[in-house]
Amino acid sequence: MPFSTHDPVPSDRLRTPRRICIVGASGKLGQYMVQLALDRGFEVVGVCREGSVGKLARFGGRLTIVPGATNDADVIRRAVAGCDAVLTVLVPWGIGQYASGTAQAVLDAAPPDARLVFSCGWHITRDGKDVYSPIFLALLKVFGWVARVTRFAQLDDQVEACRRIFASDRAWTVVRGSDLEEGESQGLPVWSRHVGDAVLKSNRTRRIDFALFMVEALTDPRLIHEAPAIVGCQTASALAIAAEPMRSTA
Ligand SMILES: NC(=O)c1ccc[n+]([C@@H]2O[C@H](COP(=O)([O-])OP(=O)(O)OC[C@H]3O[C@@H](n4cnc5c(N)ncnc54)[C@H](OP(=O)(O)O)[C@@H]3O)[C@@H](O)[C@H]2O)c1
Repeated sequence: MPFSTHDPVPSDRLRTPRRICIVGASGKLGQYMVQLALDRGFEVVGVCREGSVGKLARFGGRLTIVPGATNDADVIRRAVAGCDAVLTVLVPWGIGQYASGTAQAVLDAAPPDARLVFSCGWHITRDGKDVYSPIFLALLKVFGWVARVTRFAQLDDQVEACRRIFASDRAWTVVRGSDLEEGESQGLPVWSRHVGDAVLKSNRTRRIDFALFMVEALTDPRLIHEAPAIVGCQTASALAIAAEPMRSTA
């Protein structure tokens, strides 16, 4: 069953954050999230590796930067102090349990009531009910093998990171991105609980809209303890489902 976050949200369950932390702020997704958060008037703290601080120069003094490794508990503790929400870019890069270390540091250090939103890809499954195409599975296998052999990335560690998040009783959301592309925003992506659902068939989302979904998730209580798989709202599969009579009269 496809979902759209354009549906109304009960206003009494919304809580707009005042100060948020973005872990992995210097990446492409992170920079989009910083911009969107600043546009909304949030106070923003960004965490990125020391060598990447320059990538955030265009934000000037509008952003507080805590340089350091995102899986360093001390760095994360300082960055999330006093934050109402934490947006975390989970990547499997490197071979040092980077993703699981980052997730654990955020789970451990974020203030108790903080809203936690993490990013990952469709390959993460929460309940094992996702249905993947043979091509997707083949590419995943090849990428996973190459990444392991070249010590470029640990896909398994992103799986472990999400396992820990799913097991947590924090107010988490794990946003699972489709294949990404650059370009202007097309609007808030639609989502579904399971890869394989018809609405997701196009497997394409603008990176800026992935960021938009992450930021909007902060104030959407229906996404707490969900692992939405997202797709661009203007893709063929999303439009086809939106045009179905059952949905338009619902
Ligand atoms: N790329 C895709 O097609 C795709 C598809 C589906 C889902 N996703 C998800 O989307 C999110 C963003 O992915 P993205 O590919 O678009 O990347 P991205 O936004 O460019 O972000 C990459 C992040 O990883 C950091 N990073 C890179 N190499 C690292 C290393 N060796 N050790 C530690 N950190 C490192 C970068 O920090 P620096 O700025 O310091 O380099 C940056 O914060 C991820 O959660 C990913 O799982 C991506």
